[in-house]
Amino acid sequence: MKVSVIGAGAVGVSVCQYLLLNGACDSLVLVDLNAQKAEGEILDFGHTTSLTFSRNVRLTHGTYADCAGSRLVIITAGAQLKPGQTRDELALINARITVEIARELEQVAPEAILLFATNPVDLVTRFVIRNTSYPAERVISSGCVLDSARFMKIVADRLNLDPKNVFGYVLGEHGKTSFIPWSLTNIGGLSMDAWCDMVGAARFDQVELLEAVKQAGFEIFQRKQNTNHGIAASLYRIVQAILFNEGSILPVGVLLQGEYGLEDCVLSVPALVDGRGIARILSYPLTAQELAQLHHSARYLQQLAQQVSA
Ligand code: LAC
Repeated sequence: MKVSVIGAGAVGVSVCQYLLLNGACDSLVLVDLNAQKAEGEILDFGHTTSLTFSRNVRLTHGTYADCAGSRLVIITAGAQLKPGQTRDELALINARITVEIARELEQVAPEAILLFATNPVDLVTRFVIRNTSYPAERVISSGCVLDSARFMKIVADRLNLDPKNVFGYVLGEHGKTSFIPWSLTNIGGLSMDAWCDMVGAARFDQVELLEAVKQAGFEIFQRKQNTNHGIAASLYRIVQAILFNEGSILPVGVLLQGEYGLEDCVLSVPALVDGRGIARILSYPLTAQELAQLHHSARYLQQLAQQVSA
């Protein structure tokens, strides 16, 4: 089971660490334009192998050719957000970079599943699907898995709960038009309002909470100029579903081809993820308002896509 990671920045390195500690693959390849950085990281990881109990993973740094035969390739490479920038400002450059990477991978690993984290992640994923021969079910955007995790953590913190007891999806674009389908949220199986009423806590202000979720990434950017732990854990959650053929329902970015009345855009909706990649896009019964929000995300991304291809 070979996994390749493209991009030896903070996100790529963090995701390598998850892969190694969990023994999720037997061969790991790290590729970066800066070959020395990738080599240094791999040498450094090598020194963990006699110290941890995980399996003896074959570690390689190299070029795209070394990714041959990969089951999964995780793409984290691209221009990084600078403080004050939005994810969209990276659109043109990162759409080009990711399509170039995918075309290289196509030559050596046409059977692989590609998982993208490069921002704006839904847009770059759509460009890769449109400009390579990879089938849509094997090209996945990390989408709103991270946003959903942020939602669960924020709600849990305010109620002093374990985040694993809070459930909810953030859907749509991984960006400013994302939304929370409140009809699907719950705390310990109860609706959020019912749970708050039960314990005598104030009910959540939905507008404020959504804004807090959207701002969560920028709160981190302001302090450390990047984010890596949350996105790496989100990537690993998706990786697990794929490599261990889990059949997990995850809010990943998928190409919509008629679902929810939408075409030709990559957005996060609940999807069944297993060893095939996207095994099925699930058509959840969203309310009219939620559906309108999903369409709003789609229009926004389609406009951005037009600007990029213009
Ligand atoms: C974030 C980046 C990965 O939201 O977009 O942390």
